[in-house]
Amino acid sequence: MLLPIRLLKGSWPRPLERWFSRFVWSDPLVILRDDVSEEDFRAAMSAIHVGDTIKITGRDRHPVADDLLIENVELSGATIVDIGASDGSTSVDLIRKLDDFARYIMADLFFEIDVVEVGRHSVFFDNDGNWILTVGHRILAWPADSALVRLVFGRSERRARRPGMPQKRALLLGPAARELMRRDQRINYRVHDIFTPWDGPAPTVVKVANLLRRLYFSDEVIVSALQTLLGSLTEGAYLLIVDNSRIPGMGPRAGLYQRDDGKFTMIAETPDRPEIADLVGRAQLTVFPLDEPQP
Ligand SMILES: C[S@@+](CC[C@H](N)C(=O)[O-])C[C@H]1O[C@@H](n2cnc3c(N)ncnc32)[C@H](O)[C@@H]1O
Repeated sequence: MLLPIRLLKGSWPRPLERWFSRFVWSDPLVILRDDVSEEDFRAAMSAIHVGDTIKITGRDRHPVADDLLIENVELSGATIVDIGASDGSTSVDLIRKLDDFARYIMADLFFEIDVVEVGRHSVFFDNDGNWILTVGHRILAWPADSALVRLVFGRSERRARRPGMPQKRALLLGPAARELMRRDQRINYRVHDIFTPWDGPAPTVVKVANLLRRLYFSDEVIVSALQTLLGSLTEGAYLLIVDNSRIPGMGPRAGLYQRDDGKFTMIAETPDRPEIADLVGRAQLTVFPLDEPQP
């Protein structure tokens, strides 16, 4: 984003919002409301920039990838781990297509966010305490890449950090994902960093969609994540990679790979290979893990 400031939807004259619609964003403060709709919650995710990525997601975003998985893998009794699940929208899509899986774990490094109100500003912090966003009564501003934003909004950020300032914590899982977790004990979430070994129940499939992307990470960093994933899978377990390309006319790309003899073997890919398919082939187990993940 060249100038990381946007207009807050509903706070400017209508014609102006229409003319500059590309620069008008929904209010991310809706994530604090109990009665927030699925769509509004999802729209708020586009404003949440965390680590090197954005929590942007969508509904019905991976139909081809999910079919690739369902057609090629016996999922009854399976443990499915969805890393980088954001607000759970795409997990909900897949869960609704499945029957007798054993567990579905929505995993993400960023599931919580703190919001502190300082006058007319709401200051957002990620779970490491990094200042990630300020919402004013008419604008949104992202400080990470802008000295100007940090200068203009730094005062309220410093006030927000003062001891005793009341914080509101939001769980970044949307209403549909929460409802599924309430109703179905097999579904839960877990904080997990894709760059560290998985220490939860042994996955039958790990799905990674729109996280290991070249727009976020260098090839070396992506390969290191793939090697960590390889080490976290038992022999015969699967990795599903998905990316929603921004190339005009290109649909979602997906690849299904299986751990076989300490490396990934391709089982199925969409005609347009996933962006990082070549990197999946480079991942190899250099060090065998001392402990296999516990069932
Ligand atoms: C672009 S979203 C993808 C959401 C969803 N998978 C989809 O395809 O619509 C990327 C997600 O990865 C998460 N993320 C970023 N860094 C991560 C890390 N190191 N480990 C796990 N998740 C991470 C972000 O919090 C965000 O929810």
